[in-house]
Amino acid sequence: MRAPRKRPARKIAPVIAARLNGHLSLQVQADGSIAAFVNGYSVNLGQLSRAAIDRARNLADGLPLASFAGKSAIAREVDVLVHRLARHGLLEYRLFSPRDGQDLVVIEPQIAEYWPQRAKLGEGDTVVLSRFSYLHRRGNEMVLESPRAAALFRIDDPLIAAMLAALSQPQKIGRLRRGAAGFHLKLLELLLECQFLLKLDAKSGDGLRENEGDGNLVLWDFHDLVFHTRSTEGRQTNPVGSTFAYANALPSLPAVRPRWPGKKIDLRDLSASEPTSDFATLLRERHSVRDFDDAHPITLAELAQFLNSAARVLSEWESDANSQGGSGITYSTRPYPSAGSAYELELYLAVSNCEGLARGFYHYDAGGHTLVAIDASAQQLQALSAAAEFAMDASGPPQVLITIAARFGRISWKYSSIAYALILKDVGCMIQTFYLAATDMGLGGCAIGTGNIDLFAKMTGLEFHVEGPVGQFALGRGKRQAIPG
Ligand SMILES: Cc1cc2nc3c(=O)[nH]c(=O)nc-3n(C[C@H](O)[C@H](O)[C@H](O)COP(=O)(O)O)c2cc1C
Repeated sequence: MRAPRKRPARKIAPVIAARLNGHLSLQVQADGSIAAFVNGYSVNLGQLSRAAIDRARNLADGLPLASFAGKSAIAREVDVLVHRLARHGLLEYRLFSPRDGQDLVVIEPQIAEYWPQRAKLGEGDTVVLSRFSYLHRRGNEMVLESPRAAALFRIDDPLIAAMLAALSQPQKIGRLRRGAAGFHLKLLELLLECQFLLKLDAKSGDGLRENEGDGNLVLWDFHDLVFHTRSTEGRQTNPVGSTFAYANALPSLPAVRPRWPGKKIDLRDLSASEPTSDFATLLRERHSVRDFDDAHPITLAELAQFLNSAARVLSEWESDANSQGGSGITYSTRPYPSAGSAYELELYLAVSNCEGLARGFYHYDAGGHTLVAIDASAQQLQALSAAAEFAMDASGPPQVLITIAARFGRISWKYSSIAYALILKDVGCMIQTFYLAATDMGLGGCAIGTGNIDLFAKMTGLEFHVEGPVGQFALGRGKRQAIPG
């Protein structure tokens, strides 16, 4: 008689739990409300019953999502608290094995709305990694990231990394379950929901570039979409801006490059020390203005003239039959240069104080030289202007905040590898044109180096990879500098 075959140990499904992130602690206040403390800041989270507070204490190690999914009064209280913490970006999510309590994966949200959701997968479904997914080392950890994903996944089990490597080719769920030691259906469903994975159907082919997402996504190179989402705010939680991250490790490079040792040709005697033309004077006078005179704001007529000089479409034309890329491609001519004459940049104006123009959010139709109102909420408008005020360390919001957005596909349709770099160079050309036009008109302005691509997407309803912010410029009538004495 054949000995009974030993059954493989049945895998127990991992559990998803919410956990307070970083150095966060929850404390009960004197008035019975609960508050979260992190790096000296506190967030009030409202009143909770004693029983709910006791259960919430488990958030320090991880509170299974299923434990507060029920209808009991305590579950509902904890559910409200946990969602409030999530909206403030104060949670991460462990996926752990109930057998030994070890983390398999820790999910770190990258956008405020993230909540662990699973896209259902069946045995017969075929999945493959998105071409935007990448594993890389962060400190002593391995993290899975994608510019498309609303969260990043810290991979704590090397078997899962091996399974991810196998997903570089399309895999049927049933086969993966039998063949990959790091297989966990729940994890794959979480990854699919976050767009780390694609589900292929019979028409999808092999999941390569053409099969992933809409036409606008096909046009993106991997490095360009990573660059866009990691050098802006809204879709990542890394520190952005002047953090002086290396101030304790290395000295700053000098303001002016040390001279090369070769033969010198002195130009000083050949150049006038004072400007010799109106244009040279304009260049000397240009400077950044961050504080604006709100008693005498910029007028609609001035704004119209500014846009007319700096950004208006001057003419439109079409490529002919002999041109590369085919005939009938439309082009325009504008006052600033643009790579390949693509003119992919669009202007969106958040108007806080402009005489003759209502507060609001507008698109500048450069072809029609017209402002078109966009129905954004007052709260979003305020958030946009307040971020600019903060970035400039200014005393108030800019009178007009111009967000420069790119229609990415207009340029990536033609250029490979350099599309995003060209867009940023075009932004530089446009910003200098804005500085000079503002100076020429006696107005003031300042470039702003950061921008929230998620906020813009919410304000316009445009997907972040279709059209989004790549620069900002604050414009208005500058405050007169007090004359000393
Ligand atoms: C690409 C770019 C980004 C900038 N970002 C900011 C910013 O976020 N906040 C700010 O206050 N100034 C910003 N500036 C303005 C610079 O600080 C300013 O140009 C520089 O200090 C030189 O001063 P000036 O423009 O008055 O000659 C930016 C300028 C450029 C060109």
